[in-house]
Amino acid sequence: MAATFKAPVGTRDTLPPESRRWEALVAAFAGAAGRAGFGLLQSPTFEDLGVFERVGEGTDIVTKEMYDFEDKGGRHIALRPEGTAPVVRAYLEHHPTDPWKVWYAAPTFRYERPQAGRYRQHHQLGVEVLGSVDADVDVEVIALAWDFLSDVGLRRVKLLVNSMGEPEDRVRYAGVLQTFFRDRLDALAEEDREKVEHHPLRVLDSKRPATAAVVADAPRPAEHLAEAATAHFARVQAGLDALGIPFTIEPRLVRGLDYYTRTTFELQAEALDSAQNAVGGGGRYDDLAEALGGPSTPGIGFGMGVERVLLAADAEAVWPVPDSPVEVFVVDVTGGDVARDLTSRLRRAGLGADRGFDGRSMKSQMKAADRSGARFAAIVGEDEAAAGVVTLRDLRSDHPQEQVSMNDVIDTITAAHSGHAAESEAEQHG
Ligand code: HAM
Repeated sequence: MAATFKAPVGTRDTLPPESRRWEALVAAFAGAAGRAGFGLLQSPTFEDLGVFERVGEGTDIVTKEMYDFEDKGGRHIALRPEGTAPVVRAYLEHHPTDPWKVWYAAPTFRYERPQAGRYRQHHQLGVEVLGSVDADVDVEVIALAWDFLSDVGLRRVKLLVNSMGEPEDRVRYAGVLQTFFRDRLDALAEEDREKVEHHPLRVLDSKRPATAAVVADAPRPAEHLAEAATAHFARVQAGLDALGIPFTIEPRLVRGLDYYTRTTFELQAEALDSAQNAVGGGGRYDDLAEALGGPSTPGIGFGMGVERVLLAADAEAVWPVPDSPVEVFVVDVTGGDVARDLTSRLRRAGLGADRGFDGRSMKSQMKAADRSGARFAAIVGEDEAAAGVVTLRDLRSDHPQEQVSMNDVIDTITAAHSGHAAESEAEQHG
Protein backbone atom coordinates (compact mmCIF):
# COMPACT_ATOMS: atom_id res chain seq x y z
CA MET A 1 0.00 0.00 0.00
CA ALA A 2 1.25 3.48 -0.77
CA ALA A 3 2.40 5.54 2.19
CA THR A 4 -0.29 7.80 3.56
CA PHE A 5 0.30 11.52 3.63
CA LYS A 6 0.38 13.82 6.58
CA ALA A 7 0.22 17.59 6.79
CA PRO A 8 3.73 18.98 6.16
CA VAL A 9 6.04 19.43 9.16
CA GLY A 10 5.25 22.66 10.97
CA THR A 11 1.69 22.91 9.60
CA ARG A 12 -1.58 21.86 11.17
CA ASP A 13 -5.12 21.00 10.29
CA THR A 14 -7.69 22.71 12.45
CA LEU A 15 -10.82 20.58 12.45
CA PRO A 16 -14.36 21.29 13.56
CA PRO A 17 -15.57 21.90 16.21
CA GLU A 18 -12.23 23.46 17.34
CA SER A 19 -12.17 25.51 14.13
CA ARG A 20 -15.33 27.35 15.29
CA ARG A 21 -13.13 29.18 17.81
CA TRP A 22 -10.98 30.24 14.91
CA GLU A 23 -13.94 31.42 12.84
CA ALA A 24 -15.26 33.37 15.80
CA LEU A 25 -11.86 34.97 16.43
CA VAL A 26 -11.55 36.16 12.84
CA ALA A 27 -15.15 37.41 12.90
CA ALA A 28 -14.52 39.30 16.15
CA PHE A 29 -11.39 40.86 14.68
CA ALA A 30 -13.22 41.80 11.49
CA GLY A 31 -15.91 43.44 13.61
CA ALA A 32 -13.46 45.39 15.78
CA ALA A 33 -11.36 46.54 12.82
CA GLY A 34 -14.46 47.40 10.76
CA ARG A 35 -15.96 49.48 13.57
CA ALA A 36 -12.65 51.37 13.80
CA GLY A 37 -12.83 52.29 10.12
CA PHE A 38 -10.53 49.62 8.69
CA GLY A 39 -11.52 47.82 5.49
CA LEU A 40 -10.47 44.30 4.51
CA LEU A 41 -7.52 44.00 2.14
CA GLN A 42 -7.49 40.65 0.43
CA SER A 43 -4.08 40.30 -1.22
CA PRO A 44 -2.32 37.34 -2.83
CA THR A 45 -0.64 34.67 -0.73
CA PHE A 46 2.47 35.02 -2.87
CA GLU A 47 4.27 38.07 -4.20
CA ASP A 48 7.30 38.90 -6.26
CA LEU A 49 10.28 37.97 -4.08
CA GLY A 50 11.52 41.56 -4.28
CA VAL A 51 8.55 42.78 -2.24
CA PHE A 52 9.91 40.93 0.77
CA GLU A 53 13.64 41.33 0.19
CA ARG A 54 13.32 44.94 1.27
CA VAL A 55 11.83 44.20 4.66
CA GLY A 56 14.95 42.77 6.17
CA GLU A 57 18.20 41.91 4.47
CA GLY A 58 19.64 41.23 7.90
CA THR A 59 16.74 39.22 9.28
CA ASP A 60 16.30 35.47 9.51
CA ILE A 61 12.75 35.90 8.22
CA VAL A 62 14.07 37.05 4.85
CA THR A 63 17.47 35.40 4.55
CA LYS A 64 16.77 31.95 5.96
CA GLU A 65 13.07 31.33 6.39
CA MET A 66 11.44 32.42 3.17
CA TYR A 67 9.50 29.93 1.04
CA ASP A 68 10.61 31.18 -2.36
CA PHE A 69 10.70 29.50 -5.71
CA GLU A 70 10.74 30.10 -9.42
CA ASP A 71 7.33 29.65 -11.01
CA LYS A 72 6.72 28.00 -14.37
CA GLY A 73 7.13 31.37 -16.07
CA GLY A 74 10.55 31.93 -14.51
CA ARG A 75 9.35 34.56 -12.00
CA HIS A 76 10.94 34.53 -8.59
CA ILE A 77 8.06 34.22 -6.14
CA ALA A 78 7.82 34.07 -2.35
CA LEU A 79 5.00 32.92 -0.08
CA ARG A 80 4.15 35.78 2.29
CA PRO A 81 6.55 35.61 5.29
CA GLU A 82 4.88 38.63 6.90
CA GLY A 83 1.88 40.84 6.25
CA THR A 84 3.15 44.40 5.94
CA ALA A 85 5.13 44.48 2.71
CA PRO A 86 2.18 43.18 0.62
CA VAL A 87 -0.02 45.96 2.01
CA VAL A 88 2.56 48.60 1.10
CA ARG A 89 2.91 47.04 -2.35
CA ALA A 90 -0.89 47.22 -2.82
CA TYR A 91 -0.96 50.83 -1.60
CA LEU A 92 1.71 51.85 -4.10
CA GLU A 93 -0.07 49.98 -6.87
CA HIS A 94 -3.58 51.39 -6.30
CA HIS A 95 -2.98 54.94 -4.95
CA PRO A 96 -5.83 54.94 -2.42
CA THR A 97 -6.73 58.07 -0.43
CA ASP A 98 -4.72 58.75 2.73
CA PRO A 99 -4.89 57.64 5.40
CA TRP A 100 -5.47 54.14 4.10
CA LYS A 101 -6.68 51.85 6.89
CA VAL A 102 -6.85 48.14 6.12
CA TRP A 103 -7.02 44.87 8.00
CA TYR A 104 -6.18 41.34 6.92
CA ALA A 105 -6.40 37.74 8.05
CA ALA A 106 -3.79 35.81 6.15
CA PRO A 107 -1.71 32.65 6.14
CA THR A 108 1.97 33.45 6.64
CA PHE A 109 4.92 31.18 5.92
CA ARG A 110 8.29 30.90 7.62
CA TYR A 111 10.70 28.00 7.42
CA GLU A 112 11.31 27.89 11.15
CA ARG A 113 12.11 25.06 13.53
CA PRO A 114 8.61 23.97 14.52
CA GLN A 115 7.66 23.86 18.19
CA ALA A 116 4.60 24.73 20.27
CA GLY A 117 3.45 28.15 19.09
CA ARG A 118 5.93 28.28 16.20
CA TYR A 119 4.81 26.89 12.87
CA ARG A 120 5.88 26.96 9.24
CA GLN A 121 2.43 28.16 8.27
CA HIS A 122 0.81 30.46 10.80
CA HIS A 123 -2.05 32.92 10.44
CA GLN A 124 -1.94 36.60 11.15
CA LEU A 125 -4.68 39.02 11.94
CA GLY A 126 -3.34 42.48 11.29
CA VAL A 127 -3.98 46.09 10.44
CA GLU A 128 -1.93 48.72 8.63
CA VAL A 129 -2.43 52.47 8.28
CA LEU A 130 -0.61 54.19 5.45
CA GLY A 131 -0.19 57.88 4.85
CA SER A 132 -0.33 59.42 8.33
CA VAL A 133 2.46 60.51 10.66
CA ASP A 134 0.05 61.38 13.46
CA ALA A 135 1.14 59.81 16.76
CA ASP A 136 -2.55 59.33 17.56
CA VAL A 137 -2.64 56.74 14.77
CA ASP A 138 0.00 54.80 16.69
CA VAL A 139 -2.24 55.00 19.74
CA GLU A 140 -5.31 53.90 17.74
CA VAL A 141 -3.46 50.90 16.31
CA ILE A 142 -2.04 49.79 19.65
CA ALA A 143 -5.42 50.30 21.34
CA LEU A 144 -7.13 48.17 18.69
CA ALA A 145 -4.75 45.28 19.41
CA TRP A 146 -5.01 45.73 23.16
CA ASP A 147 -8.81 46.01 23.28
CA PHE A 148 -9.20 43.04 20.96
CA LEU A 149 -7.12 40.78 23.19
CA SER A 150 -9.01 42.00 26.19
CA ASP A 151 -12.36 41.30 24.44
CA VAL A 152 -11.10 37.79 23.75
CA GLY A 153 -10.86 37.54 27.51
CA LEU A 154 -7.09 37.53 27.92
CA ARG A 155 -6.06 39.20 31.15
CA ARG A 156 -2.39 38.32 31.38
CA VAL A 157 -1.07 40.34 28.46
CA LYS A 158 1.85 42.71 28.72
CA LEU A 159 2.34 45.59 26.30
CA LEU A 160 5.92 46.61 25.60
CA VAL A 161 6.63 49.79 23.65
CA ASN A 162 9.74 51.50 22.37
CA SER A 163 10.85 54.09 19.87
CA MET A 164 13.50 53.44 17.25
CA GLY A 165 13.55 57.14 16.40
CA GLU A 166 13.67 58.76 12.98
CA PRO A 167 15.35 56.81 10.20
CA GLU A 168 18.48 58.92 10.79
CA ASP A 169 18.30 58.10 14.51
CA ARG A 170 18.12 54.45 13.65
CA VAL A 171 21.21 54.73 11.45
CA ARG A 172 23.07 56.72 14.10
CA TYR A 173 22.05 54.24 16.78
CA ALA A 174 23.18 51.32 14.63
CA GLY A 175 26.60 53.01 14.39
CA VAL A 176 26.82 53.50 18.16
CA LEU A 177 25.84 49.87 18.71
CA GLN A 178 28.34 48.66 16.18
CA THR A 179 31.20 50.43 17.96
CA PHE A 180 29.96 49.04 21.27
CA PHE A 181 29.80 45.45 19.97
CA ARG A 182 33.10 45.67 18.07
CA ASP A 183 34.80 46.43 21.38
CA ARG A 184 33.20 43.34 22.91
CA LEU A 185 33.27 40.95 19.98
CA ASP A 186 34.86 38.08 21.91
CA ALA A 187 32.18 38.20 24.57
CA LEU A 188 29.35 37.72 22.04
CA ALA A 189 28.05 34.27 21.12
CA GLU A 190 29.94 33.14 18.05
CA GLU A 191 26.80 32.97 15.88
CA ASP A 192 26.04 36.61 16.59
CA ARG A 193 29.47 38.07 15.77
CA GLU A 194 28.94 38.25 12.03
CA LYS A 195 25.86 40.47 12.55
CA VAL A 196 27.97 43.24 14.08
CA GLU A 197 29.36 44.51 10.78
CA HIS A 198 26.20 44.64 8.70
CA HIS A 199 23.24 44.37 11.05
CA PRO A 200 24.21 45.43 14.57
CA LEU A 201 20.54 45.95 15.57
CA ARG A 202 19.87 42.27 15.02
CA VAL A 203 22.34 41.42 17.80
CA LEU A 204 19.77 42.87 20.20
CA ASP A 205 17.23 40.17 19.22
CA SER A 206 19.59 37.35 20.15
CA LYS A 207 18.41 35.05 22.90
CA ARG A 208 21.87 33.45 23.29
CA PRO A 209 23.03 33.90 26.91
CA ALA A 210 26.53 35.24 26.11
CA THR A 211 25.11 37.87 23.77
CA ALA A 212 22.27 38.73 26.11
CA ALA A 213 24.82 39.51 28.84
CA VAL A 214 26.60 41.99 26.55
CA VAL A 215 23.31 43.45 25.32
CA ALA A 216 22.24 44.19 28.88
CA ASP A 217 24.76 47.06 28.98
CA ALA A 218 24.34 48.19 25.37
CA PRO A 219 23.36 51.80 24.63
CA ARG A 220 19.60 52.35 24.26
CA PRO A 221 17.87 53.88 21.25
CA ALA A 222 16.03 56.39 23.41
CA GLU A 223 19.39 57.99 24.20
CA HIS A 224 19.82 58.69 20.49
CA LEU A 225 16.45 60.09 19.49
CA ALA A 226 16.07 63.36 17.61
CA GLU A 227 13.65 65.89 19.09
CA ALA A 228 10.79 65.07 16.69
CA ALA A 229 10.92 61.38 17.54
CA THR A 230 11.03 62.15 21.24
CA ALA A 231 7.92 64.34 20.94
CA HIS A 232 6.17 61.66 18.86
CA PHE A 233 6.95 58.99 21.45
CA ALA A 234 5.76 61.26 24.26
CA ARG A 235 2.41 61.75 22.49
CA VAL A 236 2.06 57.98 22.03
CA GLN A 237 2.68 57.38 25.73
CA ALA A 238 0.27 60.15 26.73
CA GLY A 239 -2.36 58.58 24.46
CA LEU A 240 -1.96 55.14 25.98
CA ASP A 241 -2.19 56.66 29.44
CA ALA A 242 -5.33 58.58 28.44
CA LEU A 243 -6.97 55.37 27.21
CA GLY A 244 -6.01 53.49 30.36
CA ILE A 245 -3.77 51.03 28.53
CA PRO A 246 -0.91 49.90 30.75
CA PHE A 247 2.49 49.56 29.07
CA THR A 248 6.15 49.09 29.82
CA ILE A 249 8.88 50.88 27.91
CA GLU A 250 11.35 48.27 26.70
CA PRO A 251 14.36 50.18 25.38
CA ARG A 252 15.74 47.23 23.41
CA LEU A 253 12.57 46.24 21.64
CA VAL A 254 13.83 46.49 18.04
CA ARG A 255 11.73 43.57 16.70
CA GLY A 256 12.73 41.03 14.10
CA LEU A 257 12.22 43.05 10.92
CA ASP A 258 14.41 45.82 9.52
CA TYR A 259 11.75 48.34 8.58
CA TYR A 260 10.82 49.83 11.93
CA THR A 261 11.21 53.53 12.68
CA ARG A 262 9.79 55.46 15.64
CA THR A 263 7.19 53.39 17.56
CA THR A 264 7.61 49.63 18.01
CA PHE A 265 5.47 47.48 20.27
CA GLU A 266 4.84 43.90 21.25
CA LEU A 267 2.05 42.13 23.12
CA GLN A 268 3.23 39.24 25.24
CA ALA A 269 1.01 36.61 26.81
CA GLU A 270 2.40 35.87 30.23
CA ALA A 271 0.58 32.53 30.26
CA LEU A 272 2.77 31.25 27.39
CA ASP A 273 6.32 29.96 27.31
CA SER A 274 8.66 32.95 26.97
CA ALA A 275 10.25 31.85 23.69
CA GLN A 276 6.87 32.03 21.90
CA ASN A 277 4.91 34.41 24.06
CA ALA A 278 4.54 37.25 21.54
CA VAL A 279 0.89 37.13 20.53
CA GLY A 280 1.29 40.27 18.44
CA GLY A 281 3.69 42.97 17.47
CA GLY A 282 4.10 45.91 15.19
CA GLY A 283 5.29 49.42 14.76
CA ARG A 284 5.99 52.27 12.35
CA TYR A 285 7.77 51.76 9.07
CA ASP A 286 8.00 55.25 7.62
CA ASP A 287 10.71 54.26 5.10
CA LEU A 288 9.25 51.05 3.72
CA ALA A 289 7.21 52.56 0.87
CA GLU A 290 10.32 54.29 -0.43
CA ALA A 291 12.34 51.10 -0.12
CA LEU A 292 9.69 49.46 -2.34
CA GLY A 293 10.22 52.13 -4.99
CA GLY A 294 7.32 54.45 -4.08
CA PRO A 295 7.08 57.96 -2.73
CA SER A 296 7.94 58.41 0.93
CA THR A 297 4.81 57.31 2.85
CA PRO A 298 4.57 56.76 6.59
CA GLY A 299 2.91 53.60 7.90
CA ILE A 300 2.14 51.70 11.05
CA GLY A 301 0.44 48.43 11.90
CA PHE A 302 0.59 45.15 13.75
CA GLY A 303 0.32 41.44 13.13
CA MET A 304 -1.15 38.99 15.61
CA GLY A 305 -0.72 35.22 15.47
CA VAL A 306 -4.10 33.43 15.53
CA GLU A 307 -2.52 30.20 16.81
CA ARG A 308 -0.75 32.00 19.65
CA VAL A 309 -3.82 33.98 20.66
CA LEU A 310 -5.75 30.71 20.87
CA LEU A 311 -2.93 29.04 22.86
CA ALA A 312 -3.01 31.96 25.28
CA ALA A 313 -6.81 31.66 25.43
CA ASP A 314 -6.41 27.95 26.31
CA ALA A 315 -3.91 28.82 29.02
CA GLU A 316 -6.29 31.37 30.51
CA ALA A 317 -9.38 29.18 29.92
CA VAL A 318 -11.19 31.82 27.87
CA TRP A 319 -12.69 31.94 24.36
CA PRO A 320 -14.42 28.54 24.43
CA VAL A 321 -15.66 26.75 21.33
CA PRO A 322 -18.88 28.56 20.31
CA ASP A 323 -22.17 26.66 20.13
CA SER A 324 -22.85 24.79 16.92
CA PRO A 325 -24.87 26.80 14.39
CA VAL A 326 -26.95 23.67 13.80
CA GLU A 327 -30.20 24.06 15.70
CA VAL A 328 -32.13 21.04 14.51
CA PHE A 329 -30.99 17.59 13.47
CA VAL A 330 -33.53 15.68 11.46
CA VAL A 331 -33.60 11.96 12.21
CA ASP A 332 -35.63 10.18 9.56
CA VAL A 333 -35.84 6.38 9.55
CA THR A 334 -38.55 6.21 6.88
CA GLY A 335 -36.37 6.44 3.80
CA GLY A 336 -35.16 10.04 3.80
CA ASP A 337 -37.88 12.02 1.97
CA VAL A 338 -38.91 13.86 5.13
CA ALA A 339 -35.31 14.58 6.07
CA ARG A 340 -34.58 15.92 2.61
CA ASP A 341 -37.61 18.21 2.53
CA LEU A 342 -37.63 19.31 6.15
CA THR A 343 -33.92 20.26 6.34
CA SER A 344 -34.36 22.32 3.21
CA ARG A 345 -37.44 24.08 4.62
CA LEU A 346 -35.67 24.77 7.91
CA ARG A 347 -32.61 26.18 6.15
CA ARG A 348 -34.70 28.32 3.84
CA ALA A 349 -36.38 29.70 6.95
CA GLY A 350 -32.95 30.71 8.22
CA LEU A 351 -32.54 27.96 10.81
CA GLY A 352 -29.50 25.74 11.19
CA ALA A 353 -30.41 22.21 10.18
CA ASP A 354 -28.53 18.99 9.52
CA ARG A 355 -29.64 15.39 9.03
CA GLY A 356 -28.56 11.77 8.88
CA PHE A 357 -27.80 10.05 5.58
CA ASP A 358 -27.45 6.55 4.20
CA GLY A 359 -30.53 5.11 5.92
CA ARG A 360 -28.69 4.71 9.23
CA SER A 361 -30.45 3.23 12.25
CA MET A 362 -32.35 5.38 14.74
CA LYS A 363 -29.59 4.82 17.28
CA SER A 364 -26.84 5.87 14.92
CA GLN A 365 -28.74 8.97 13.76
CA MET A 366 -29.48 9.97 17.35
CA LYS A 367 -25.75 9.77 18.09
CA ALA A 368 -25.08 11.96 15.08
CA ALA A 369 -27.72 14.40 16.37
CA ASP A 370 -25.85 14.65 19.68
CA ARG A 371 -22.52 15.13 17.95
CA SER A 372 -23.94 17.88 15.75
CA GLY A 373 -24.44 20.11 18.78
CA ALA A 374 -28.05 20.75 17.71
CA ARG A 375 -30.50 21.71 20.41
CA PHE A 376 -33.35 19.68 18.89
CA ALA A 377 -33.72 16.35 17.22
CA ALA A 378 -36.72 16.24 14.87
CA ILE A 379 -37.50 12.54 14.80
CA VAL A 380 -39.54 10.89 12.06
CA GLY A 381 -40.40 7.20 12.40
CA GLU A 382 -43.11 5.27 10.58
CA ASP A 383 -45.82 6.47 13.02
CA GLU A 384 -44.88 10.13 12.66
CA ALA A 385 -44.67 9.86 8.89
CA ALA A 386 -48.15 8.33 8.74
CA ALA A 387 -49.57 11.06 11.02
CA GLY A 388 -47.74 13.94 9.30
CA VAL A 389 -45.96 14.95 12.51
CA VAL A 390 -42.43 14.99 13.89
CA THR A 391 -41.30 14.27 17.43
CA LEU A 392 -39.23 17.15 18.73
CA ARG A 393 -36.76 16.23 21.44
CA ASP A 394 -34.78 18.86 23.31
CA LEU A 395 -31.27 17.38 23.43
CA ARG A 396 -30.02 19.81 26.04
CA SER A 397 -32.68 19.36 28.69
CA ASP A 398 -34.97 16.66 29.95
CA HIS A 399 -38.15 18.46 28.90
CA PRO A 400 -40.62 15.83 27.68
CA GLN A 401 -40.54 15.46 23.94
CA GLU A 402 -43.53 16.75 22.00
CA GLN A 403 -45.21 15.92 18.74
CA VAL A 404 -45.63 18.80 16.34
CA SER A 405 -47.43 18.81 13.04
CA MET A 406 -45.11 19.04 10.06
CA ASN A 407 -46.52 22.48 9.23
CA ASP A 408 -45.76 23.86 12.69
CA VAL A 409 -42.19 22.59 13.02
CA ILE A 410 -40.57 25.78 11.84
CA ASP A 411 -42.70 28.04 14.04
CA THR A 412 -42.14 25.87 17.10
CA ILE A 413 -38.39 25.82 16.63
CA THR A 414 -38.21 29.52 15.84
CA ALA A 415 -40.15 30.29 19.02
CA ALA A 416 -37.97 27.97 21.11
CA HIS A 417 -34.89 29.44 19.50
CA SER A 418 -35.79 33.04 20.31
CA GLY A 419 -36.77 32.00 23.84
CA HIS A 420 -33.45 30.25 24.20
CA ALA A 421 -31.54 33.22 22.77
CA ALA A 422 -33.28 35.55 25.23
CA GLU A 423 -32.40 33.18 28.08
CA SER A 424 -28.71 33.05 27.22
CA GLU A 425 -28.67 36.82 26.72
CA ALA A 426 -30.17 37.19 30.21
CA GLU A 427 -27.58 34.75 31.58
CA GLN A 428 -24.75 36.70 29.99
CA HIS A 429 -25.90 40.04 31.33
CA GLY A 430 -27.31 38.74 34.58
P1 HAM B 1 6.08 39.48 13.61
O1 HAM B 1 6.37 39.89 15.00
O2 HAM B 1 7.17 38.80 12.87
O3 HAM B 1 5.64 40.79 12.86
O4 HAM B 1 4.80 38.54 13.57
C1 HAM B 1 3.58 38.96 14.13
C2 HAM B 1 2.99 37.88 15.02
O5 HAM B 1 2.79 36.68 14.26
C3 HAM B 1 3.87 37.43 16.18
O6 HAM B 1 3.72 38.29 17.30
C4 HAM B 1 3.32 36.04 16.48
O7 HAM B 1 2.14 36.14 17.26
C5 HAM B 1 2.94 35.54 15.10
N1 HAM B 1 3.97 34.66 14.54
C6 HAM B 1 5.11 35.01 13.91
N2 HAM B 1 5.80 33.93 13.51
C7 HAM B 1 5.09 32.85 13.89
C8 HAM B 1 5.26 31.42 13.77
N3 HAM B 1 6.30 30.90 13.14
N4 HAM B 1 4.30 30.63 14.27
C9 HAM B 1 3.21 31.14 14.91
N5 HAM B 1 2.99 32.46 15.04
C10 HAM B 1 3.92 33.30 14.55
C11 HAM B 1 5.25 40.87 11.57
O8 HAM B 1 5.10 39.92 10.85
C12 HAM B 1 4.95 42.28 11.13
N6 HAM B 1 4.47 42.24 9.73
C13 HAM B 1 3.96 42.93 12.05
C14 HAM B 1 3.67 44.33 11.63
C15 HAM B 1 2.56 44.78 10.99
N7 HAM B 1 4.48 45.38 11.76
C16 HAM B 1 3.88 46.45 11.25
N8 HAM B 1 2.75 46.10 10.76
